Amino acid sequence: MKKLMLVGATGLVGGHVLQQALADPAVAQVVAPTRKSLVPHAKLLNPLVDFERLPEDADWWRVDAVVCTLGTTIRVAGSQAAFYKVDHDHPLEVAYLARRHGARAFALNSALGADVASRVFYSRTKGEIERDLQAVGYPSLTLVRPGLIGGQRQEARPAEQWAVRVSKLLQPLLPRRYRVVPADRIAHHLLQAALAATPGVHVLPSEALL
Ligand SMILES: NC(=O)c1ccc[n+]([C@@H]2O[C@H](COP(=O)([O-])OP(=O)(O)OC[C@H]3O[C@@H](n4cnc5c(N)ncnc54)[C@H](OP(=O)(O)O)[C@@H]3O)[C@@H](O)[C@H]2O)c1
Repeated sequence: MKKLMLVGATGLVGGHVLQQALADPAVAQVVAPTRKSLVPHAKLLNPLVDFERLPEDADWWRVDAVVCTLGTTIRVAGSQAAFYKVDHDHPLEVAYLARRHGARAFALNSALGADVASRVFYSRTKGEIERDLQAVGYPSLTLVRPGLIGGQRQEARPAEQWAVRVSKLLQPLLPRRYRVVPADRIAHHLLQAALAATPGVHVLPSEALL
């Protein structure tokens, strides 16, 4: 049985990872640091944290594996710099701290098109976090790259919701990599990769998640 850390548990994909991990007999405990409290559960440890000031020596960093589904939008974050903190700096710091305390597997919710050479800031940020995670030294690293994510969001994201609707209509005509990926499928792949901890760096493209 394993101890799993989940960052991003209050989000769409993270919420599915949380439910699946709590129900999985292979998981002894889920450590989910968040800004807002989660619904209590016997298997859940939910430290409330400020990601700008993570407690470096907390005991709860001692886990076997980490799933990261942190992320924001430039609109919500307010600037590219603020977005970069959430999608790059915080995941990297979590990765370092958990690795320092013994974690051996890390699974990241990245995105289709992640590329350090991209002209698109979002895709470049995802490329940079993928690159920088590889330098942290996890024996097992999984980079999951969904296209559009499908699922029920509380926050209104009109452009994204429109794109999801159009993609769903065009689904039969679209190549598999451009189809909407249900959030629970992404969660399944993240969780199982983190638990399996297969040595090496593994990239799961969008079409592999369907
Ligand atoms: N939307 C898409 O179609 C799409 C496509 C491909 C890849 N992705 C990527 O997939 C990942 C997960 O997406 P999602 O839709 O599940 O995200 P989401 O529902 O927006 O959830 C994001 C998570 O990040 C946390 N977070 C945001 N800002 C934070 C901050 N300043 N400090 C600490 N935590 C913060 C949120 O916590 P709070 O509840 O505290 O805000 C939440 O737990 C993201 O990295 C996203 O870029 C998204």
